[in-house]
Amino acid sequence: MHAEKQQHAFEPKIVAFVCTWCTYAGADLAGTSRLQYPANIRVVKFPCTGRIDPVFILRAFQKGADGVLVSGCHPGDCHYMAGNFHARRRFAAFRQLLDFIGVDLNRLQFSWVSAAEGGKWVDVATELTERVRELGPLREFAALEAEEHWSGALATPELQEAYNSI
Ligand code: FES
Repeated sequence: MHAEKQQHAFEPKIVAFVCTWCTYAGADLAGTSRLQYPANIRVVKFPCTGRIDPVFILRAFQKGADGVLVSGCHPGDCHYMAGNFHARRRFAAFRQLLDFIGVDLNRLQFSWVSAAEGGKWVDVATELTERVRELGPLREFAALEAEEHWSGALATPELQEAYNSI
């Protein structure tokens, strides 16, 4: 009963790495349309999903995120031609690495959300948050964080701020 209560109290921390042209605008549209989505999501925007290094995802998990969302323009809509295709291939390989090191793949989601899809953003953000809430906190990376000194070599000010807010 007590454990059940604790599980219910768990609020997952989710970091969303998004493309500024599509998904960020979609999330903004959701906000201006007064659509509700979980406050668990910290959004970090990039010029393109092709700029999102898988190391950023590892760092987010290492810094305390329980789930990560990567989202950008639909296929054919990338403002840099093929950045989202490169990202999709990169993340397919990266998921195998995560699986190998024992992270439940349900904690990481890749999606396409356009600037006009405020409703889809709400659905994606809500579904991932609920799924990670069911999984509970991710603890595997806390030990790594304690052992390793954060160099910040790959960090932008936005990333540093997102990591610090986790
Ligand atoms: S510009 Fe949006 S994914 Fe490339």
